[in-house]
Amino acid sequence: MDKLIIEGGVKLKGELTVSGAKNAVLPILAATLLTDDACIIKGVPDLRDTNTMIKILRSLGKDAELENGTVSVSNLKKISHVADYKLVSTMRASFCVLGPLLGKLKKAKVSLPGGCIIGVRPVDLHLKGIRALGTDITIESGYVIAKAEKLKGNHVYLGGVYGSSVLATDNVMMAAVLASGKTIIESAACEPEVVDLAEFLIKMGARIKGQGTPVIEIEGVRCLHGATHTIIPDRIEAGTIMLAALITRGDILIKNIFYKHLGALIDKLEEAGASLVKTENSIHLRYKKPLTAVNITTLPYPGFPTDMQAQMMALMSVTPGISVITEKIYPDRFMHVAELNRMGAHIQREGPHAIVEGVKELSGAPVMASDLRASACLVLAGLSARGKTSISRIYHLERGYQDLEEKLEKLGAKIWREKE
Ligand code: UD1
Repeated sequence: MDKLIIEGGVKLKGELTVSGAKNAVLPILAATLLTDDACIIKGVPDLRDTNTMIKILRSLGKDAELENGTVSVSNLKKISHVADYKLVSTMRASFCVLGPLLGKLKKAKVSLPGGCIIGVRPVDLHLKGIRALGTDITIESGYVIAKAEKLKGNHVYLGGVYGSSVLATDNVMMAAVLASGKTIIESAACEPEVVDLAEFLIKMGARIKGQGTPVIEIEGVRCLHGATHTIIPDRIEAGTIMLAALITRGDILIKNIFYKHLGALIDKLEEAGASLVKTENSIHLRYKKPLTAVNITTLPYPGFPTDMQAQMMALMSVTPGISVITEKIYPDRFMHVAELNRMGAHIQREGPHAIVEGVKELSGAPVMASDLRASACLVLAGLSARGKTSISRIYHLERGYQDLEEKLEKLGAKIWREKE
């Protein structure tokens, strides 16, 4: 296993182009199961999660290949309705093959995704929505077994204890596009990645309205055809690099970024005193003066993304003042607190809150990555810290950031891999 070594204290400077969005490409690849025609997906990031989804498509009977950022998907043999435990258990997002398998084949057997280090992650909303379309669902030996004589459109309310659900909205939308009649999803997730999936489905011939709002209307059609689509830029990668610019007091021009997808983060950074120059698809961030602490509460989109909480905590840990960070999506997503404290941060956890007292500087230390975004948080901390930081279990990073080390190296970071 590799670990990542960072010699901190270098101001990052230069230009960086953001890759395609992981959370958009995974359901979009799953959606290719809805047609027998070929599909071409462009702007695909070369990530472990993308490759896992490609393996799942292959295991279900598709021919899928990632080459130079483009995935071509076509039918190789009869599509199977069984998504195997071994593959689904390695990546939670693979559960989003349930909707398209059911839509296309009217039956699906998909392994339950299981627990996760960032907390309990149930699938009750997925099952509630799929059941409402006339599906009979049983859970047997760790598998969800779904069967429908015929899928029928319905009113589905998808609000849960923690708000809307991204992948449940995706799953229900993908099942409903081939149902008979109209489906209305209320309390639908509004994330840009849900909109990107809807746009792809529309290109395939689906009839969808209201994507990006809490009410999505789907008029079922008889069949979908192949389509070509380019994935939106990854707003979480973009946000992580924005914070890398600030935490290292650097100067970075970030390209292939939709600033409209980053409203909550930009608002908080401006409140903290950062100055950003935005164009339609780039942001220039230059550190001009010390920031001040701000409070953060994570919420479903367009609120502050939970996937940026850990990285923001790294920035606040070296920002003068007190910042209260409240996690409303995954109340246990605080594995990074102890690791930041190992580097000299002053952070106290109080239930779903973390109270961060900014320190003058962090000092490099051996730390351990626990999940994808916690890894990004530790990279940011390491970039700003005095001395050397070594981050173990960095395979988490490869799930969601394409070529992060190379990208940071180009910006001047002293970062390299070593064997554990
Ligand atoms: C997606 C993202 C993930 C992000 C998360 C929240 C992908 C591939 N992953 O995950 O990066 O952190 O959105 O923005 O897009 N919940 C239930 N019942 C359900 C489903 C979810 O109670 O059936 C809860 C979850 O435990 C969580 C909240 O709803 O508290 C939101 O989760 P959800 O939006 O479903 O996350 P994912 O779609 O799995």
